[in-house]
Amino acid sequence: MKVIAFFNNKGGVGKTSLVYHLAWMYAELDRKLIVADLDPQANLSSMFLPEERLEQLWPNGEHTHTIYGAIQPLWTGLGDIAKPHVEKVANDKIGLLVGDLQLSLAEDDLNSQWPDCLDGKERSFRVISAFYRLIKEAAGNFGTDLVLIDVGPNLGAINRAALIAADYVVIPVASDIFSLQGLRNLGPTLRRWRKEWNDRLNRAPESLSAAKVLPNGRMEPVGYVILQHAIRLDRPIKAYERWMAKIPTEYHQAILDEKNSNVSLDNDTACLARLKHYRSLMPLAQEARKPMFLLKPADGAIGSHANAAKDCYEDFKALAKKISEHCKLG
Ligand SMILES: Nc1ncnc2c1ncn2[C@@H]1O[C@H](COP(=O)(O)OP(=O)(O)O)[C@@H](O)[C@H]1O
Ligand SMILES: [Mg+2]
Repeated sequence: MKVIAFFNNKGGVGKTSLVYHLAWMYAELDRKLIVADLDPQANLSSMFLPEERLEQLWPNGEHTHTIYGAIQPLWTGLGDIAKPHVEKVANDKIGLLVGDLQLSLAEDDLNSQWPDCLDGKERSFRVISAFYRLIKEAAGNFGTDLVLIDVGPNLGAINRAALIAADYVVIPVASDIFSLQGLRNLGPTLRRWRKEWNDRLNRAPESLSAAKVLPNGRMEPVGYVILQHAIRLDRPIKAYERWMAKIPTEYHQAILDEKNSNVSLDNDTACLARLKHYRSLMPLAQEARKPMFLLKPADGAIGSHANAAKDCYEDFKALAKKISEHCKLG
């Protein structure tokens, strides 16, 4: 199984839209996959599912079909994680692990169980590895070995547990001061989480290590995707270019810990893509509830919009292939 998390600690840059489109592109390329919505804001789930379906999945009362519902027996002390519900979308190519606003209730327990892993407590390991084990079971049941994870923009305990489940990390960035600052925080945090999880793994109870149910916490950075739609039109284009030029060096220094590196955008293999602002394609896509690159004339994609949808298809296809290569998806 290959688990790829999309992560930065700056919201609103286009991360969820990126995961949504990439997932659809892998489906287009005839690859089945699981997509896990581990952001308590559940934006990804609302991109995939119509309101009526969300209403069924999020009833007043217990949410047995969401990620939160699946971890609840473990949280309430009644047992371990339940069998995860996999919501089939995109012509059954994508299995969605449905997000849930209630997931934020898991933050406290994930926080308090983290230090207790050092004492080798079995329940602590079960809690911290709950997302990983859910994902693994879902992938097995759905018949795929590829998983994409979307998370919220912070460095909290939910995200730590989500990232520990990841083999690879892709970092979406906008070209502004916030994203650069975000990279500076993210690099040391990922290294710390990796090291701390490793310390804990060494103390895991035999029952769990022998069963091989714990993640290895690899979190290998595969590169960054520059999202250009976030350009503020009230800012001079020069300012934006200046921030963009700084991204490669910041990525190499902060994320890869290469002390004196000085890299330019044109020859940086860590730059996986520079995605355009697709303008009015995005609202059309939201309206049609499909990715921008599958918009048809009937959805309003006519004339220049039709051409833009084609370009968008090629952009995402290239990105999906690049990520496949970097993560050796085979
Ligand atoms: N490439 C793009 N072109 C145009 N608009 C975009 C693009 N990517 C994202 N957006 C828009 O930007 C906003 C934030 O995107 P979202 O994916 O929710 O960001 P995040 O998950 O980082 O908070 C949304 O309104 C989305 O429609
Ligand atoms: Mg998001």
